[in-house]
Amino acid sequence: MYNDLLAKRVNPDVPSALSGLFVNDPDPSAISFAAGSPNESLFPVAAMRQAFDTAIDTQGAHLFQYQSSQGNPDLRAKLAARIGKWGRVTTTADNVVLTIGGQQAIELVAKALLNPGDEVAVEVPTYVGALAALDLYQPTYYGVGLQGDGLDLDALETTLKRHPGIKLLYTVPDFHNPTGITMSVAKRAQLVALANRYNFIILEDSPYRDLGYDQAPLSAIKSFDTEGRVVFVSSLSKILMPALRTGWLVADGKLLAAIMKVRLASDLEATGVTHAAINAYLDANDLDAHVAVLKAHYREQCAAMVSALQRYFPDEAAFTTPTGGFFDWVTLPAGIDVDALLQTPAMLGAHVSYVPSTNFYPNRDVHNGLRLCFSGLTPAVIDTGMRRLGEQMKVAVRGVKPVF
Ligand SMILES: Cc1ncc(COP(=O)(O)O)c(C=O)c1O
Repeated sequence: MYNDLLAKRVNPDVPSALSGLFVNDPDPSAISFAAGSPNESLFPVAAMRQAFDTAIDTQGAHLFQYQSSQGNPDLRAKLAARIGKWGRVTTTADNVVLTIGGQQAIELVAKALLNPGDEVAVEVPTYVGALAALDLYQPTYYGVGLQGDGLDLDALETTLKRHPGIKLLYTVPDFHNPTGITMSVAKRAQLVALANRYNFIILEDSPYRDLGYDQAPLSAIKSFDTEGRVVFVSSLSKILMPALRTGWLVADGKLLAAIMKVRLASDLEATGVTHAAINAYLDANDLDAHVAVLKAHYREQCAAMVSALQRYFPDEAAFTTPTGGFFDWVTLPAGIDVDALLQTPAMLGAHVSYVPSTNFYPNRDVHNGLRLCFSGLTPAVIDTGMRRLGEQMKVAVRGVKPVF
C-alpha cells in the first residue's frame, strides 16, 4: 500500500540477509548446526550479576544518567590495552568506540563510507550479517576467494586493478565466519600495503580472535596500519555473552570522526549501564582465565566435528579444519543444491540443519557449500547429528555422480 513511501534502499519484499537463516524444527530429536551462538553453559552469570550490583552500588543514580557517546572511558581503556597486548595495536581509549555489538560497528562503518553504488570487496564466502549491513547502503560487491591462509591477495590485487574505485574491503581474519580460516600474519602486512597502494579502507572484523584453541591471538591487521586506513572491530559476544550487546571498534582521524557523527545520529551512545557492569566484571575477574576455559570446550567440540566429518561424510566432500572459533565449512561437488537438499523429505526426516552457502555470497549464487557450527553442542550430540547429516550428504553425492 505505502511501498512507494519506503526508502529505495529498503525493499521489504526482499528479506534481510539475516532473516530466515535458521530452520526452527520443533522435533525433540532435532540437532541444529545452523545457529552460530556461543555455548550458554559457559556464560559467567553469577560473576556478571555481582558486577551489575557493584556498578549500581558504586555509582548509584548517576549510573543511569546519559553518559559518554564513545562509551565508558574505563572500559575503553581496558579494551585498548587488551588489543595492544593481544593484537599489537598501539592505541588509546580515545580511539575506541563502544557499540551495540560488533554488528553495529560494521553498520556504522558502512554508513560513514558508502554512497549508493560504491565498490566494496568482500571475502567469499563472508559473514552474512556484514552483507545485511552493507546491503542497506547499496554497494557494488566484488567477491574475493579464500585460501588456507586467508584472503587470496593475488585475486584481490587483480580485482583492484580492474576496479580501482573499490573503497572498502571487509574481512574476518581470525577463525573466519563461515569457514574457520585464519589469515597469516604475512598476509595481514601485505593487505595493509595493498590498501595504501590502492587507496581503500579495511574493515577488520575479529570477534573470534581470542578463541584460538592452541594459540595466542595473532597480530591484528590494524597493527600494520600506518595511515589510519584500518577500522578494527571486535565484540564481547563470543567471549562473555551476546546479550550484553557490547562490541567495539578502533579507528583514527577523520574516519573516527565520521563514525562518531553517524553514531550520534543513530543512538547517541551505547548501553552505559551494561558497560559499567562489564568494567566491574573485568576489575574483579580474570577474562583471560575465562577465555582459557572457553577455548578448551570449543577445541573439544571442533575435534568432534572434524572427526565426524572424516567418518560420516562422503569422500567427495572437502572441509576446513579450524584451529579456533565456532565454524566448519564443507564444500560438496558442483551440482548439489544445499538449499533444495534442506527441504527434501529425507532431510526433513533426519531433523538436522545447517546454513546453506548461498547466504554467505553477496549474489547468493554458490549452492554447494554449508556452514556447520559446533559451539552449542556436546561432542556426543555432534556425533549423532553428523552421522545423520553424513547419510544425507552421501545420498546427495550419489545423485550428482556421473554413472559410467
Ligand atoms: C564475523 C562476525 N562479525 C560480527 C558479529 C556480530 O556479533 P555481535 O553483534 O554479537 O558482536 C558476528 C556474530 O555472529 C560474527 O560472526
